[in-house]
Amino acid sequence: MTDKETNSERLKDAAFAAMENAYAPYSRFRVGAAVQATSGEIIAGCNVENAAYGEALCAERVAIAAAVAQGLTSFEEIAIASESDEPSPPCGSCRQTMSEFAPDLLVSSYARNGKQATWRLSELLPEAFALNHLRGRL
Ligand code: THU
Repeated sequence: MTDKETNSERLKDAAFAAMENAYAPYSRFRVGAAVQATSGEIIAGCNVENAAYGEALCAERVAIAAAVAQGLTSFEEIAIASESDEPSPPCGSCRQTMSEFAPDLLVSSYARNGKQATWRLSELLPEAFALNHLRGRL
C-alpha cells in the first residue's frame, strides 16, 4: 500500500466513523465526511437534521466548517461515507462550499458495501462562482 492509499484509507475510516454519529432521524440517510487539510490534519463531520427539515446540515459542510473553526482553510481531499448502495455525490451547496477553499479538491465517496467513486471538484462544479467574480466590488 502506498502512502497515498494509506492516507485515503485513513480519511475513509474517519468518514465512516463520523457517519455513526449522524443525526438523521427524518431521512434515515446517515452521512459522514472527513476532510484532510494541507497540513495533514483530518477533521470529520456528519449530517445534522432538524424537525424544521430545511435546517438540515450536510456532513461535508459540517466537516469543512469545523476545520475552518480550527483555523484550517486549505484542503487536499475529502471522503464521504453514506448508507447508500452507490457512492453518494456531494450536493450542490456542498460543492460550492468545497470550492471556496479547494477548487480542485479530490472528492471520494464510499457506499456501505465498499463501492467507491472519485472525482475532482473541478469536474463536479465547473465554472464555479468564486472570489474573482467579485473583483472590484469588495
Ligand atoms: N446529505 C449530506 O449530508 N450530504 C450531501 O451531500 C447530500 C445530503 C444529507 C442531508 C440530509 O440529512 C440527508 O443527507 C438526506 O438528504
